[in-house]
Amino acid sequence: MGKNTRVISVANSKGGVGKSCVSIMLAVALARHKDKKILIIDCDSQGSVTDMYERERELYEGDPAIEVEELTPRKVQTFLKRFGSDYDIIFIDIPRMTDKKKDTATVMLLYNCDSVLVPIVGNEVDVLSSQDFAEILEETNNDKQDMGDEFRHYGFINRRNQRKSNEVAETAMKKGGLKMFKHSLPDLKIFTHPSFYKSIMESAEGARRFEDFYKEFCRKFKV
Ligand SMILES: Nc1ncnc2c1ncn2[C@@H]1O[C@H](COP(=O)(O)OP(=O)(O)OP(=O)(O)O)[C@@H](O)[C@H]1O
Ligand SMILES: [Mg+2]
Repeated sequence: MGKNTRVISVANSKGGVGKSCVSIMLAVALARHKDKKILIIDCDSQGSVTDMYERERELYEGDPAIEVEELTPRKVQTFLKRFGSDYDIIFIDIPRMTDKKKDTATVMLLYNCDSVLVPIVGNEVDVLSSQDFAEILEETNNDKQDMGDEFRHYGFINRRNQRKSNEVAETAMKKGGLKMFKHSLPDLKIFTHPSFYKSIMESAEGARRFEDFYKEFCRKFKV
């Protein structure tokens, strides 16, 4: 793979925290505003990103802002070697994990990434399982460091609602050693169905609610 290609995952073992939606919003924004060539590799056997992509392509003419490729986890490494350099940034959309021991294929996907962003939804149950995931990340990163490599990793609060639960989440995650973004994403209808054609920041409300988070992402992840 080309040295300059970035491989990023919006990842958490927890389901339904916004991994796929946030990947799409970031990917399309980077394609539209920074003119990057972007691919999302959909490694979730439920294929939700691929389904959304295909559904939207039936509705519109012309090309979407990004490409999507559905792959089983075991094919990812070979794919990256062969085709990775065709892209500036590749997002890997990982499935939720049911059991950390049985999900080694998913954990392996993290080895292919240079950066991982962890969405955290601020209720206590979610925070606990996100803490487990922060541990998996640390272990993965330690293994990478043994090989003279490492990844960037940060958490952020997604679907921010009541201040108190968010504070609980933030304190717990920091204690678990995960560095947190200053900016979070609120729980909003405009974030529920991201488009593959239009950046979320093309609408005034989208720009107002997404831009700070997006800018912090670009700065911290150096894209
Ligand atoms: N900031 C947000 N505001 C409002 N809704 C959101 C936000 N982020 C995610 N959602 C909604 O939450 C639901 C789950 O999001 P998404 O499918 O991206 O999560 P996921 O972590 O990829 O889930 P899975 O583990 O099933 O793959 C979706 O209905 C999505 O539209
Ligand atoms: Mg998903």
